[in-house]
Amino acid sequence: MRDQLLIGGTWRDGADGERISVLDPATGEELTTVASGTPADADAAVSVAAKAQVGWAKVAPRERGEILRNCWKIMLDHQDELGELITKEHGKPIADAKGEIAYAAEFFRWNSEEAVRLRGTIGTSPNGANRIIVHHPPVGVVVMVTPWNFPAAMITRKVAPALAAGNAVVIKPAKETPLTALRVGELLEEAGVPPGVVNIVPTQSAGPWFEAATANSATRMVSFTGSTEVGRVLLKRCADRVLKVAMELGGNAPFIVFNDADLDAAVEGAMVAKMRHSAETCTAANRFLVEADVADDFTQRLAKVMADVQVGPGHEAGVGCGPMINAGAVQSIDSLVNAAVGEGATVVTGGEIVDRAGFFYAPTVLADVTPTAAINHEEIFGPVAPVVSFTDTDDMIRIANNTEMGLAAYVYTADIGRGMSVSERLESGMVGLNRGAMSDPAAPFGGMKQSGLGREGASEGILEFCETQYIATQW
Ligand code: SIN
Repeated sequence: MRDQLLIGGTWRDGADGERISVLDPATGEELTTVASGTPADADAAVSVAAKAQVGWAKVAPRERGEILRNCWKIMLDHQDELGELITKEHGKPIADAKGEIAYAAEFFRWNSEEAVRLRGTIGTSPNGANRIIVHHPPVGVVVMVTPWNFPAAMITRKVAPALAAGNAVVIKPAKETPLTALRVGELLEEAGVPPGVVNIVPTQSAGPWFEAATANSATRMVSFTGSTEVGRVLLKRCADRVLKVAMELGGNAPFIVFNDADLDAAVEGAMVAKMRHSAETCTAANRFLVEADVADDFTQRLAKVMADVQVGPGHEAGVGCGPMINAGAVQSIDSLVNAAVGEGATVVTGGEIVDRAGFFYAPTVLADVTPTAAINHEEIFGPVAPVVSFTDTDDMIRIANNTEMGLAAYVYTADIGRGMSVSERLESGMVGLNRGAMSDPAAPFGGMKQSGLGREGASEGILEFCETQYIATQW
């Protein structure tokens, strides 16, 4: 297991010898420790990346693409090992963890194909005086700050397009889940990524680390996935140096069910949208808005399936919901549930912390939740489904859009015309229409409003890591 910093192709301890304690969330016990990078290490990594980037940008796009394809292949060859590592440090069920590796690897395959299709344009100025040539050089060094909920995929979704475009990167993985990141870094080098192009520097002092990484004049861009609260702080820091930014921030997804929907399909979709990866996703269904005449039926069916979900350590057979990431997460979920109940919600199933070692919360369904309850306005990041009923579509859309977030939304109806028109009225970067899952490396992932800036994946993803240069000339 790699437990040091990866800088310039070498493994080393942090400058001050400090270590990060990595916990097993299924027991609360320490799994291992990992070197913690200092501000000096972050600065050194950016300088190393800047040197490596010059050579990497000169590698022919086809060759870069082939190296990225090797990265896809090597991750799949190590799917079991990487999946087990994710389950150890994050806790998610092993099937989800292995699924995450397939998803994570796919960003390399997709971007191996994008590397050779990064096209510009050529036009003639309206007065005919000159040609307008537009092309897309890489931005240079990108600092990436990634979350713990997808220890592999939220790294590869950034690294693959960044590398395809010819950038070098310095990654600060979440301190809760550095082991997967370090192993992925090692595999990328085995797959042919030159030393220094991908640097991985975990730290337990995120603030000073980020200050140092962004103070280095070679840093040109910051790509962050995490909460809106932290995103705001990083944006302010980036403003000082006018850095290019890409931000994937929080969500508060409504899951809308009309009375004509196929309720079996809606419950199946709800389980995917709510519970995948132990309900710790920013696309998770956060609020269920159900048409009043089917609200009770939907709630009872959902509660039955939620009550059957086996909660436990992710490596155990049959487990559908692993531990939450830490004790604080469990407390915050419990406070939201208690506050909703205090405001009149009914617990249909769950509603409590699981009484065992580790950080577990019971899959929960709440009925009769008021639209104003805090649980409808904060990201739960846990296995709790609050149900609010509605009678009027316009009111429901007002409730759905009554949030500063706008990442994901879900709509279930048998009337595809209604589904499309409601989808278009939702202030949300992504909509699952009669689908509980929408994540796909070939689709632009990202949010409206305070859910983020920019898109990851699809052909938009690679452009985020590029400059646009225009050359005026004539002949
Ligand atoms: C996230 O929760 O941050 C990402 C979810 C996904 O890619 O499916």
